[in-house]
Amino acid sequence: MKKKLVLIIVLCLMLVIALSTMVLMLLKAVSLKADEIVYEYGQPLHIEYTSLLDTEDQQILDSLSVDESQIEYEENQTYPKVGEYSIPLHYQSFFKKMTTSLKLIVKDTTSPQFDKSTNEINLFVNDQLDIEASFSCSDLSGCKLLYDTSQVKLNQEGSYPMQIKAVDPYENENIMDFMIHVKSRPVASVGNQVTIVNGLLIVNKKHGIPSDYATTEDPVAKVQIQKLISDMQALGYDISSDYNGYRSYSIQRDLYNSYVSKYGQAKADTFSARPGYSEHQSGLAFDLHHQNRKLVKNENEVQWIAQNAYKYGFIVRYQKGWEAITGYQAEPWHLRYIGSKAEDIYRSGLTLEEYLGVEGGNYR
Ligand code: DAL
Ligand code: ZN
Repeated sequence: MKKKLVLIIVLCLMLVIALSTMVLMLLKAVSLKADEIVYEYGQPLHIEYTSLLDTEDQQILDSLSVDESQIEYEENQTYPKVGEYSIPLHYQSFFKKMTTSLKLIVKDTTSPQFDKSTNEINLFVNDQLDIEASFSCSDLSGCKLLYDTSQVKLNQEGSYPMQIKAVDPYENENIMDFMIHVKSRPVASVGNQVTIVNGLLIVNKKHGIPSDYATTEDPVAKVQIQKLISDMQALGYDISSDYNGYRSYSIQRDLYNSYVSKYGQAKADTFSARPGYSEHQSGLAFDLHHQNRKLVKNENEVQWIAQNAYKYGFIVRYQKGWEAITGYQAEPWHLRYIGSKAEDIYRSGLTLEEYLGVEGGNYR
């Protein structure tokens, strides 16, 4: 009888222990197969939450509800901003509502890319150095170019090994090596003469230019004029992307002759160069147009160009009051590419002839 009682008590105790263990197990939160998930920035978010729960209990899986409200997305995008987010997972376990949190980590570990790059930049002495015309980068988080050109001497020949970095705000970077070569501007072909003073070519009625001096626009000057035009357009100025740059000897001859037959030689000489005497033949001069293709004359544009052209390496070559020296009436649309000395010339208030100390005025 006593033995039977002990057996019943033992069985009851075992039952109580088994039942409490079961209840405790049911109340225990379901663990996650991974506590945190790492996403690369830019990757669209798509998490299979049910497969993350370490359970096969259908009741739990069916009751799962996920609160993604803390996740901040980039505007109009399916990927979240860089950061850490907690994602509560709610589910019904037995008779109790339970919550387990998943950590989402969004990181940017991708290096910026170079969209535009070059192995070498070739400049002539006194050209303007514009690294950002030769390099550009992109990155989902934004990127900037870092470089140091302080050692580059633009006023003499030389070669410089350089390094440029594209970096994003998360310190991911991409590095490129390149060279800058500064060379002397080519001078006249055999038998022809040009006048170059302190590395600057002078073309006026006293200083002609060989018919084969250039065959096209100077590439650096071309990049700079296009930059000036697009900056003006971005600022809302009435300026056309079409400009008049290089003119060959024969085009200049035909143009000049057409003016002579229309206005007579004396008048034509006040605004059009004779063939062999036009800056346009050098590939370094550009006439800017309004949107209607007429030469730039409107006050707003004229003023902006006068005050800002030097920042792009240009000078307004023919200005009011300078006619006796330059040999031409004012042309607020005619820009001459100078390079790094443009600011100095602009601030001097002098004609190019005076600045270089060369003869100007009429033809001999
Ligand atoms: N209009 C300028 C002076 C030229 O013909 O070169
Ligand atoms: Zn011109």
